[in-house]
Parts: sequence; structure tokens; C-alpha cells
Amino acid sequence: MCGIIGYIGKPPVIETILDGLARLEYRGYDSSGLAVLNGQGLYVCKRVGKLQGLREALKGHAFDGHIAVGHNRWATHGSPSEINAHPHTDCSGSLAIVHNGIVENYAELKARLQAQGHQFRSETDTEVIAHLVEEQAKRAPLAEAFRSALKELRGSYAVVLLSTSEPQHLYGARSSSPLIVGLGKGEAFFASDVPAILARTRRVIYLNDHEMVELSSAGAKITTLDGRAVTRRSSLVSWDLASAQKEGFAHFMLKEIHEQPAAAEQTLFNRLAQDAGQLAFDRRTSGFLSRLGAHERLVIIACGTAYHAGLVGEYMLEEFAKIPVVVDLASEFRYRGPMLDRDTTVLAITQSGETADTLAGIRLAKTQGAKVLAICNVMGSSIAREADAVLYTHAGPEIAVASTKAYTSQLTALYLLTLHLAKVRATLEPARWQELAQGLQRLPTLLQRALATERPIKAIARRYAAARDFYYLGRRYNFPSALEGALKLKEICPRIHAEGYAAGEMKHGPISLIRKGWPVVFIATDSPIYEKVISNVEEIRARKGECLVIASEGNKAVARHAEALITVPKTEELFSPAVVAVPLQLLAYHIARLNKCDIDQPPNLAKSVTVE
Ligand code: F6R
Repeated sequence: MCGIIGYIGKPPVIETILDGLARLEYRGYDSSGLAVLNGQGLYVCKRVGKLQGLREALKGHAFDGHIAVGHNRWATHGSPSEINAHPHTDCSGSLAIVHNGIVENYAELKARLQAQGHQFRSETDTEVIAHLVEEQAKRAPLAEAFRSALKELRGSYAVVLLSTSEPQHLYGARSSSPLIVGLGKGEAFFASDVPAILARTRRVIYLNDHEMVELSSAGAKITTLDGRAVTRRSSLVSWDLASAQKEGFAHFMLKEIHEQPAAAEQTLFNRLAQDAGQLAFDRRTSGFLSRLGAHERLVIIACGTAYHAGLVGEYMLEEFAKIPVVVDLASEFRYRGPMLDRDTTVLAITQSGETADTLAGIRLAKTQGAKVLAICNVMGSSIAREADAVLYTHAGPEIAVASTKAYTSQLTALYLLTLHLAKVRATLEPARWQELAQGLQRLPTLLQRALATERPIKAIARRYAAARDFYYLGRRYNFPSALEGALKLKEICPRIHAEGYAAGEMKHGPISLIRKGWPVVFIATDSPIYEKVISNVEEIRARKGECLVIASEGNKAVARHAEALITVPKTEELFSPAVVAVPLQLLAYHIARLNKCDIDQPPNLAKSVTVE
């Protein structure tokens, strides 16, 4: 949600900023802008729409410099327009601010600054930061002016400041919004996320909330907002540039769908022994899991796709590890007054580790004495750092707005956790445990085989591409799959209405909508209630709905219940949500492609939702 890049080093900085912004476009794409010190002063350029507009506006400009900031916007305060795009400048036009987050007390600050004579141009909350710094800088050096301004802000921010008064420095700070420092050879960066700087450096410093950085091409000086010096070692990120590029695929989403076998394999790697007899986690996670008491209960919190992974987790953890589980949308959990105690573990599931609601949820949990475990994909992210322990998914960077490989990796981590808890709680016969562990070991292969559904799915997508309403139905472990399948389609195909339901719920209302030809995607893989699912299929067909059924390979009888059929590799029911996720993602992708949708950057959305 909004992408920030700051650079100090050597020319050509405009290309460096545009390159960084291109890699951050998944965070916001309603407008973009940059500010550069070009020797004569501060040059600011902004454009509405995709980054290409800014790129074109800058074509042919002969100037360049050694220091600049850039921003991709996902609008919160003020509609997408050139005036509201970042960077925002002060009255004198000599300092520029880029910001991700929300300044909650901006109205009050703006009124005060206006009374002091400051002229505002935009409708944004961000502009107050520029004027606050300008005001403070009348009395103090820039660093102190920036620090004082930050202390006045309520809400969340990752912010970078560039000023003509200090052409050798950029200043940055964060509070509940992500900001990292990248250190290269004779150059340094601020960025919202690692992919923005991977082409230049893998050496990063993760900042904590309420820390401020004075950045020069020689390095970073970190202090707290109270002015205390902070010593922080840099880390080397393991992601490489290739993992953040499309590598011949038409879209990041398609590439990431195809990366799922490898992502699951990486997530299992070194944790599930070759002979599937043992599980191993890193020291911090093992220690954490060994402290879980006999009366432990789990509260899973997450948003969107990660929430759907949590719902699958509830089924498996209760069935196999016999541990009571509640699953909450993080955005509800934080405001519903949940009852937590020392026997509660809050399990936060998140790809980015920066989702504002999930982060607020774990903070609330900690204040109530609960323990916090995270399933997270991004090392060094806020949630990874604030949780007591982390079970990392090793999916690599996920760039497409629609989450795919992160989802199946989250499921993989949940399988590991379930098996681990089943073992320590002795809730499964050893032979059954072994069977499940072997099943989990086969998961990457099953995901690979599920990718073979792409060919038949392309044909099915052509058949349904013109439909404007879809239902997705499933039961038990695949009720969350139905929610996830529908979310994928509506997310990347904004003209299509798609809803996921528990198939058994249809008769309680939604079935009234079924009309002739209405496509209904049924997940009817092998399960103890397979026959009941088929009865639900027939209820839809009796009302002339068209059923696209996803069933297990080898099920010969199912074809007569389906207008269209996709088969996926046979597996234990608990692993089926991961396997069926693949055709569901591919179906959404190919329908979106036929509808000429902007698949990697759907309107109104952005990845990594760092605002409430
Ligand atoms: C859907 C999607 C979102 C995210 C949600 C949580 O495809 O990407 O629904 O799953 O915003 O994000 P993380 O996992 O980063 O907390």
C-alpha cells in the first residue's frame, strides 16, 4: 500500500528511482511521482495512473542528480490526482516528502499550520508533514526539525524527506508502516520492500517503529525519536533478483502459480526429514512450541487469502492435533474484545508481515498475556519481528496482488504445525502420523501435477468468460477453498461477481439466485461427505445452474453430475485445499485474461495493506 523509494549515490538517479518504483508498483498504482535535486533545486514530477505515465513525462529530460525520492500511491486521503500524488512539498518548494500510512491527526495539524500562514495545495494527510518540517526548520537543523515533526504525528507512517538544505542526506522514519534501508557500494536506499532494491544490493537494515535514519551514500545513522543512537547490524537477504522478475511469464500471477511446487518444497525443506519420520524447526520456533501447555487453545488471525488458509488450519488442527481453534478476521478480532489468556496462542498468518490489522491484532494479544506465533513470508517484517516465534513460509517474493504461492505455502506451514502438535500431544497413532507425514512430503509433486489442469482450464475459461456471476461451493476442508476461489476471481476480474459458500448453506438462501446457465464451481474431491456434496451439485443442476466440478482423479462416476469437469491428483482430504487451489487460481487467471483485465494490478487494490 503505497511504495516508497529513496536513493542517494550516483547519477542517473531518475532511472534508479523509476526502476525501484516499477518493482514496487504492486503496492499502489493510481499515481506516481518523484523529486530529484538536480543542481538548481528540487525538481518534482508527478502523473496520475500507472508508472508508465511518469516514465513518459520524464523522457528526454537532460538533467539528473545524485539524490532523489519516488512514490507509487494507493489513495487514502484525496482522490487520485496530480496534486494529491506524492512527493509533497513545503511552501518554499525546497523540501519533498513521500509517505505511506495515514496521519490521523492531519486535520488538526493542518488547521494549526494554516493559521501560521502555510499554504496547502493538496487534499492529502501527507502534506502536513512537509509543512510541519518547514515550520520546525525555522528554529532547528533539518534532522531535529524532522524529529520534532514526527513526534507530532498520530497514526502510521513510513516517510522519507529530501531537502535542498542538505543535499548529501535523506531522512527517513517509520511507525507501523514498512521502511527498510539498503546499503550498496557508495550508494544507499530507502524502500518499502526488498524487491525495490534487489537489483542493486541484498544488504538491508530493518528499522523498528519510532526510529529515524540519516542516510548518506556512506551509510545509515539510526536514532530513536528521543534522539538516542541505535546500533543495528545489516542483514543479507536470501531472495535474488530473478525471484522478483517475470522470467518469461505473461504476468507475475501466472509465474507465482507455477512456482507453487517449489515454494511448498522450500517451506518443507529441512523441516520434514527425508524418511518423513521427524520434524525440525529452528531453535526459536521449537522452543516456543515446546512451551505450549496441555490446555492451549489457538486463535488464528489473518486477512483475505491468509484468513482462508487459517480456516483450513482450523479443520486440520482440531481434527488431528485435537487443539481447540478459533479463526478470526484480524480486522474484527482487534475490535471485538476477544478473551485471551496465558493459555492462548494467537497464530497470525500473513504473507507480507505488514498487514495493519494483523499487526494490531498481535499487539492486542500481547497486551493480554497471550503468546504469538506467526506464519509469515517476509523476514524482518514487522509481524515477524514482533511475534514470539515465526514459522516462515519460504515462497520467495510474491509480487502479484492476488496471492497464490503464499497461500499454498501457508497451508504447507499449517500442515507442518498440525503434524508437530499431533506428535507432541500424542493425538495420532504413530502409523497414521507417518502416513500423513508421507502425504505431506508428496505435496510438492501433487502441486506440480495439479498444474497440468491448465490446458483443460483454458478451454473451460473460454466457455465461462462472458458470465458475470459465479458461485464457488465446497464443504469441510474445501469450504475455505470455495471462499478462496471466489476471492481470486473477483479480485482480478472486477466486472465479475463471485461468491464462495459452504455448499450445505445454499438451501438457506443463496440458491434462490440460481438461474439457467449460472456457473457454479464445485469442489467435490474425495471426502467422507463426498455424496452429500454431489447431492448439493444436483440441487443446483435441478435449477439449471451449470456445474463445473473439481473432483479427484479416478472418480469415474462424477462426470454425469458435471457440465464441466476438472480432475486433480488424489490425496488425503486435508491436503486437498492446497491441490485444488491450483486449478482455482488458473481458472480465475484465464477468465481474467480473456476479459483483458489488469491481472497483476487490479483496480482499487494494492498488495500489503498497511492501512486500516
Ligand atoms: C488476496 C490477497 C489479500 C491478502 C491479504 C493479507 O489475493 O492477496 O487478500 O491475502 O491482504 O495479506 P498478508 O498475507 O500480507 O497479511
